[in-house]
Amino acid sequence: MEYAIEVKKLKKSYGKNVALSGISFNVKKGSVMGFLGRNGAGKTTTIRILMGLLKKDDGEVRVANEELKGDLSQLRMKIGYMPENFSLYLDMTGREALKFNSKFFKKMNEEKVLEYSKAFKLDLRKKIKSLSKGMKQAMSFVVATSTDPEILILDEPLSGLDPVMRGKMLKFISKECANNGATIFYSSHILEDVEKIADTVCIIDEGKDVFAGELDEIKEKRKKIVVTFKENEKEVTVEELENLNGILKAERSGHGFVLDIYGNIDEILSHLENMKTESVEVLDMNLNDIFMDLVEGDEEK
Ligand SMILES: Nc1ncnc2c1ncn2[C@@H]1O[C@H](COP(=O)(O)OP(=O)(O)OP(=O)(O)O)[C@@H](O)[C@H]1O
Ligand SMILES: [Mg+2]
Repeated sequence: MEYAIEVKKLKKSYGKNVALSGISFNVKKGSVMGFLGRNGAGKTTTIRILMGLLKKDDGEVRVANEELKGDLSQLRMKIGYMPENFSLYLDMTGREALKFNSKFFKKMNEEKVLEYSKAFKLDLRKKIKSLSKGMKQAMSFVVATSTDPEILILDEPLSGLDPVMRGKMLKFISKECANNGATIFYSSHILEDVEKIADTVCIIDEGKDVFAGELDEIKEKRKKIVVTFKENEKEVTVEELENLNGILKAERSGHGFVLDIYGNIDEILSHLENMKTESVEVLDMNLNDIFMDLVEGDEEK
C-alpha cells in the first residue's frame, strides 16, 4: 500500500496544554480523507505539523515518503495548502498572488486557474483585500490547486462558503483526486459534505485518534437494530443482549429494544434470530450519527 501521508504516535503540547497525545493514521495515495474532530481536537495542529510549519514533540510523520527534516522546499512543491486562517497578501491582486505562488512552485496550470476562477466568479484583477470572506476562501483554494499538487492539504476549505460555492468547491476537490490523481486531506465540520466526497475518514478527539479507516466500512458495521422478541418465549434482558458479540449497547424501547451495533450484521442477526425475534429492523447511521457517537458524551467519561 502506498501512502501519501503517514502519521504515527504524533505528540504535541503547547506548554502544559497537550494538543496531540499520540495520534496515528495513514492517508492512501490518491484517496480523499476527511479529517474530523470537535473544536480544539487538534486538527490544525496536526495539519501545521504536516506542512512543516510547527515542530512535533514526538512520533513519526512522513509526507510524500519524506520525513520532515532539513530543507523542505522540494517537498513543498508537491503540496497545495489552504490554511485555516486566510494567509494571502491582501495588497496583491488575485493574479499577483497566483504568480507569487508559482514562483516557488514553477508551473501553474493556467487553464485550471481560469476554469476555477470563472466558476467561483473571481475577478483575478481585483485586490485580495476587496474580496468578500467567501471569495477570499475561494481564492485561497485556486492558489492551492493552481500548481497541480500531488497532495492537497486543506484546513476547513468549505467554512464560510454559501451552498452554491460549497457545491462547486466539493466538485473541484473530487476532480483534483479523480483527474489529477491527487491525494486530498482536508478537515471539515460539515459532515454531510465529507460523506459526499471522502472515501476515508480520520476522527480525532482531544488529541487522540478515535477512528481512521474507510467510510463505507464503518457505515457497514455501525448500525442500529430495533428488535422485539416473541412474548411467550423466555424474557430477553439487556445484559443478555449486551453480552452478544457486536452489540455495544442495548436499551429497552416500548416492548422491544434498540441495539447499537458494530460488527458483522449477518452474524448479529443470526444470534438474535436464535433468541426468537418477532420483528427486526436494521437502521443505517450517517456520518453525523457516527461522529456524535464517537466523540459525544466525553464530558461524562
Ligand atoms: N498557538 C497555540 N498556543 C497554545 N495552545 C494552542 C495553540 N494553538 C492551538 N492550541 C491548543 O491546542 C489544542 C488544539 O487546537 P487546534 O487548533 O489544533 O484544534 P482544531 O481541531 O483545529 O480546532 P478547530 O475545529 O476549532 O479549528 C487546543 O486546546 C488549542 O487551545
Ligand atoms: Mg482548526
